[in-house]
Amino acid sequence: MQQVEAAGMRVSRIGLGTWQFGSREWGYGDDYLREMAPALLRRAVELGITLIDTAEAYGPGRSEQVIGETLASLAPEARSRLIVATKFMPIAPLEGIVARQAAGSRRRLQVDALDLYYAHWPNPFVSARRVMQSLRPLVESGLVRRVGVSNYSLEAWQAAEAALGAPVVANQVRFSLIAPGPARTLVPWAVSHHRLVVAYSPVGQGMLAGDPAGATVRGFRALNPGHAARVRARIAPLIAVVGDVARTHGATPAQVALAWVLHHPNTVAIPGARTVAQLEENAAAADLALDDAELGRLTQAAFEAADRPGTTS
Ligand SMILES: NC(=O)c1ccc[n+]([C@@H]2O[C@H](COP(=O)([O-])OP(=O)(O)OC[C@H]3O[C@@H](n4cnc5c(N)ncnc54)[C@H](OP(=O)(O)O)[C@@H]3O)[C@@H](O)[C@H]2O)c1
Repeated sequence: MQQVEAAGMRVSRIGLGTWQFGSREWGYGDDYLREMAPALLRRAVELGITLIDTAEAYGPGRSEQVIGETLASLAPEARSRLIVATKFMPIAPLEGIVARQAAGSRRRLQVDALDLYYAHWPNPFVSARRVMQSLRPLVESGLVRRVGVSNYSLEAWQAAEAALGAPVVANQVRFSLIAPGPARTLVPWAVSHHRLVVAYSPVGQGMLAGDPAGATVRGFRALNPGHAARVRARIAPLIAVVGDVARTHGATPAQVALAWVLHHPNTVAIPGARTVAQLEENAAAADLALDDAELGRLTQAAFEAADRPGTTS
């Protein structure tokens, strides 16, 4: 598995997204949490995936819990190679509240310190400066090893760094062929400042995975405007290009979507998976090399689709 290093943190270029673990909105059922979630985690570790992505909001708490229980059964040496990233909602700037949120995540994950702790979303009522000030004591006391932000603009990311007085090592954002914007904004800054862009929803929550009709869409996706038939119609030309490139390589559309994200330097993708077969397919995408002409076609189709009104949710 290819790795990337930035700001002293080394992770696999494909991580494992775990919003699906215990989250009713995905509609995967209780067996998925009990049986599939631990199986996915164990297989991810076997495949050399070292970045596991979760949040207190997933489940809520159930995703962190199952990760803690499963990773506790790993050999300490295998566990020590992993970066388990989690997130808190900055609901209030008070240090005590953030400290309690971090303590809850540490307890559920069964760890003494959080490897990477993200502010999940910007809060319009709490400045980036206040959020970072409330994290600083956790960093100074060693309870949080690294700080990240999520869904931050470049300006807000830079403001967060200034307020923390230390690197905010990663910004986790929606980044895919359906949401290509970070390629032009966040990635160049991450490259010049040795930071990471962590791409969530990198296979468009399934829309880039070769199911343009949405036949398998269930759970929140059935109601989400981002998955509506009119959106699928607007991205149809992009999906056709993805399919073409996939056929040339004997790859799947999901793999092409991931390989496009990963051709950007200082970038990691964290796809979620419903099955072990999807996870294995996604992990293999780290080794899929697309040529310049293919990347050019995909980028052009992605920005054309993004410029069509109403394409993104
Ligand atoms: N920071 C944030 O605000 C934020 C927001 C969203 C997500 N995230 C994180 O990012 C992770 C990934 O994002 P996401 O789950 O929204 O979207 P995603 O990774 O683009 O989509 C995951 C879904 O796509 C389908 N899929 C995955 N691999 C596939 C393959 N190889 N072939 C066919 N279908 C495949 C599966 O659904 P079906 O098989 O059911 O179609 C899977 O549940 C999350 O788990 C979470 O950790 C963070």
